[in-house]
Amino acid sequence: MTMSAAGLSPETLSVIRGQTPGVKSRIHMDNSGSALMADPVIDVMQQAFQRDVALGGYVAQAQQADQLEAGYGSLSSLLGGETSDYAFVGSAVDGWTKAFYSLPLGPGDNIVTAYNEYCSNYIAYLQLVKTRGIEVRVARQAPVGAVDLDHLEQLIDDRTALISLSHMPSSSGEINPVAKVGAIARSAGVLFQLDACQSVGHVPVNVTEIDCDIMTGTSRKFLRGPRGIGFLYINEKARAAMEPVVLTNQSAVWSSVDDYSLRDDARVFEAWERSVVNQLGFAAAIDYLLELGVEAATGQIANNAAYLRARLPDIKGVTVECPPSATSAIITLNVDGHSSEQVKAALEQQNIGVQTASIVHTRLDMEERGIEAAVRVSPHYYTSRDEMDGLLTALDAL
Ligand SMILES: Cc1ncc(COP(=O)(O)O)c(C=O)c1O
Repeated sequence: MTMSAAGLSPETLSVIRGQTPGVKSRIHMDNSGSALMADPVIDVMQQAFQRDVALGGYVAQAQQADQLEAGYGSLSSLLGGETSDYAFVGSAVDGWTKAFYSLPLGPGDNIVTAYNEYCSNYIAYLQLVKTRGIEVRVARQAPVGAVDLDHLEQLIDDRTALISLSHMPSSSGEINPVAKVGAIARSAGVLFQLDACQSVGHVPVNVTEIDCDIMTGTSRKFLRGPRGIGFLYINEKARAAMEPVVLTNQSAVWSSVDDYSLRDDARVFEAWERSVVNQLGFAAAIDYLLELGVEAATGQIANNAAYLRARLPDIKGVTVECPPSATSAIITLNVDGHSSEQVKAALEQQNIGVQTASIVHTRLDMEERGIEAAVRVSPHYYTSRDEMDGLLTALDAL
């Protein structure tokens, strides 16, 4: 596959679209919800499923042990770190909660997060406020957009046990400057947990460059893998600081009648039972992106986001709801005289798939900006110019 520096060449795009069955029947603009899988991923999953059918799950798993193992290498090739720092988990939230609840957070400790934090993470903070007496400190938005690094730094004191935020919030299009947050965490000697659910596959992400200790993401969004699987990155330092909140027969060996020995890698957070089909499909999706080239693929996503962001404000009745600093491919908008659900339904009638974002997803940010709900449009690198024009025309017609 050839590529141009700033994105994908038309020939490569055409190959990719030919390998993406989903684009044949509809315009898929919900990649921040769940993207379309490519043939090489689908083939791997179908073969794995057929092995389950023919051999039974355990024999099939044993026969695919090497490919399953290679998946950890795919994660570290894409995202940096050691293979021993990665675990496959059921979802981004599954990995995030396993790490978070395992941290030794107690009365008087505080965690520092950001104004655009994701609902599930913030709910977990609120629960530990109730049950463990921790304090949550929220860094505000900077005048130029995204998290205010000066404010974040001011919120840290000697009782700060964790900095935890989302790289890309699910509904504003902003991108937090996470490598700068990592540098602040490092100089303060505080652990840094990053929710990269929307950013992996969307922009280049590397745990060493960001200097985070814990990172989570999912397969189904910008990485174009199957649903029902995600990853947890957790480095040795973070593992040493925590007691896993749950243990399974994969986390530990029952070594004597009254004792067990823990694994010493990130797979301490895995369970024996899993979807082998999904794990192989997820690894195939990562390999597909690596072959395509992260720079080219993410460059194309950025180009597509810029194309839509430049044209949406010109459509009569459309209000782009993202802050002015937003550049990502997660674009929120509203259409005069229509609820976001009505817009979604009207577009669906034309086989254009979009999503809605609600205040409950990123309450601190959306409440501050007075937005209850919005239509969420998210192109991928495989989205064509014609498809984006199709969406713009359909919105115009509304
Ligand atoms: C920022 C962010 N974090 C976490 C999640 C949850 O991911 P999952 O459903 O895979 O657990 C989402 C999903 O939309 C998200 O946008």
